[in-house]
Amino acid sequence: MPISFTRENSLFRLTTKNTLYAFDIVKGKLIHRYYGKKAGAVVKTFADEPGDVWSFAPYAKEGEVYFSLDTQPLEYSCFGSGDFRTTALRIKNGAGNSVTGFDYVSHKIRKGRVEIPNIPCGRADERTQTLDITLRDTASGCELHLYYTVFYDCDVISRYASVTNKSGGDVVIEKWMSLALDLPGHNYDVVSLAGAHCFERVFNERTPVFRGNLSMCSRRGASSHQMNPFMAVCDRKADENHGDVYGFNFVYSGSFLNEVEGDQTGKTRVQVGLGEENFNYRLKDGETVFAPEAVMTYSAKGFGPMSRNFHHFTNDHIVPEKAKERRPVVLNSWEAFYFDIDENIMVDFAAAAAECGMDMVIMDDGWFGARVNDKAGLGDWYVNKNRFKEGLAPYVERVKNTGVKFGIWVEPEMANPDSDLFRAHPEWCIRCPERPMSYSRSQYVLDMANPEVIEYLKGMFEETFRGVPIDYFKWDMNRHISEPGSMYLGAEDQGSMEYRYMQGVYSLFKWFRETYPDAMIENCSGGGGRYDLAMMAVCSQIWTSDNTNARTRTLIQYSSMLAYPASVMSCHVSNPHGNMHELDLKYKVAVNGVLGYEFNVLKTPEEVKEEIRRQVKEYRTFDRVITDGEYYRLSSPYESDVSAYYIELGDQILLSAIHTNGKAVIGKKKPCTKLAVRTADANATYRDTRTGMTVTGEQLKKGIEIGEFAPDESGWDAKLWHFVKE
Ligand code: GLA
Repeated sequence: MPISFTRENSLFRLTTKNTLYAFDIVKGKLIHRYYGKKAGAVVKTFADEPGDVWSFAPYAKEGEVYFSLDTQPLEYSCFGSGDFRTTALRIKNGAGNSVTGFDYVSHKIRKGRVEIPNIPCGRADERTQTLDITLRDTASGCELHLYYTVFYDCDVISRYASVTNKSGGDVVIEKWMSLALDLPGHNYDVVSLAGAHCFERVFNERTPVFRGNLSMCSRRGASSHQMNPFMAVCDRKADENHGDVYGFNFVYSGSFLNEVEGDQTGKTRVQVGLGEENFNYRLKDGETVFAPEAVMTYSAKGFGPMSRNFHHFTNDHIVPEKAKERRPVVLNSWEAFYFDIDENIMVDFAAAAAECGMDMVIMDDGWFGARVNDKAGLGDWYVNKNRFKEGLAPYVERVKNTGVKFGIWVEPEMANPDSDLFRAHPEWCIRCPERPMSYSRSQYVLDMANPEVIEYLKGMFEETFRGVPIDYFKWDMNRHISEPGSMYLGAEDQGSMEYRYMQGVYSLFKWFRETYPDAMIENCSGGGGRYDLAMMAVCSQIWTSDNTNARTRTLIQYSSMLAYPASVMSCHVSNPHGNMHELDLKYKVAVNGVLGYEFNVLKTPEEVKEEIRRQVKEYRTFDRVITDGEYYRLSSPYESDVSAYYIELGDQILLSAIHTNGKAVIGKKKPCTKLAVRTADANATYRDTRTGMTVTGEQLKKGIEIGEFAPDESGWDAKLWHFVKE
């Protein structure tokens, strides 16, 4: 049983394949005991050991000076009740103060999981179990449920919570974290994936924990390019294959807060959740609200297993089952034509996709309303009849007659000020009426917290797409939320706008999935601006970055794989400008994930088309290895001249090495001339399907020489091996 409770010592034990998590109940409080290797001992510290007294630490009962919430390793700490560290929950009660304190009442061990209303979460399987603990705050009249869901096989435990107001009046949740964990010691580094538009998720920094608060957050109403919700806390010497690493992530696409804080007693508090700046929820009497799911994993052997645990979790419990069907190789119109599309161009483009052996053509931005540039038309989801004279259905039929499937771009959450939608309903945009509205990419954000907006969008799309056989939607989101106000919500509910916005967005995703059950959805937010687990749960894959330069992509993709699997990473080959070396480099970089193309193949030399045909065919021989295999990093582009990894699935190994000319190197350079496939079968012989070369498993384990690169003027080159066991 993954979850057990022993009454004699009030101890909860949560086990996964390789890890153990333990806590107990002392004086009504949940005290954290252990998170680590399964073999580790659960140590009782502090709580029942008189003598460990910290001055100035408040205690509840005279004579129990040793039991202070300020110094205990707590499962879930509340504001104002004697813990001066950063806390997970702060509720302003009817009396007007925000002192919060919950005590254990009861618990249940459930099969499966508790669903979170209108917010995606990990899918349970037959082994999934959930511990549901009920706690009560008699002073504020609130009930708290803490949920622990165990995903046994992938070594992941998740945390989420709900609060029910039973006070008879309103209360306000002012800060809310889904996951809180007190680790022993301070001797950790923190790793985050910060970045920017076109340079998302950079894995090149480690910040030591100190006696203060490290906070990593997004205040943008989106999980954001600038700071991804993933975070790891590792021991200072941890590397790819050694050391303790704790990985965390949040299954949510809006603003969030990750915190790591070293305290006076030598413990480190880690928290993941909605935070406080962009979240303030008035809870009416009798109402229940949920905090989204946060996930954690532990590896005793460095970052490699941490990544693989999260890859398994995402593939098995997050990504929709349907997405696991073979993902299409697409040809996208954006970098080919930008806004200059029409029916004839797109039909020719589709024919070229078919000729190159691709599966689908994607019509990107520019097909609707007055959208001939990014200044107008967003929100007006009816086809532009100047460009598609007979409407969408006959045009899509022509596309399909070329032999490829059809995908279309939408950006439901937005409106240009120059749109019929905004002219008719200025109150449907996020705004504070007393202030000017900021622009970003000449557009405003629709108030997805308003059900009328959601209904309007459903009606619009339903009409425009009626009878059109769409196989794929690219769902974009190209600005962040400023002036966060809703003209639909009342004054007391303004602080919950962003949370309700996300619920509205997820409900529209649900409608798309139910209305077009055979279509897949690719998520995009100016590239990877919502590259998070919740988006992965409602889409099939994500456009990794608007940056399609092979050199920058090498870094972005390497870093993204720290937390997310290759199966969701959409990677396109952009214009090689007739340069065959560039085409080869871009292809070898793109086969790190789900392959596609994005340039004007109508104007490309015949030899380029010929090579694309070959690439697509070859990719089909190992795409399952990429999407379903086990991923091992070998050399970091940030630390070496070579970026290298391999992916293994059954008898197949895909090995990749990209020579970076040392341009991406920071700090001291680690040389990389050999690539060792540690998990190869020593007794087998492998043949590289690309060159016919054979090599023994023994040699692969010891490491094969990379050999000479053939760099171009920029100094970059790439090599790829596809080994199959003979
Ligand atoms: C965003 C996307 C691009 C493209 C454009 C269209 O920038 O990331 O891929 O779809 O919007 O306007």
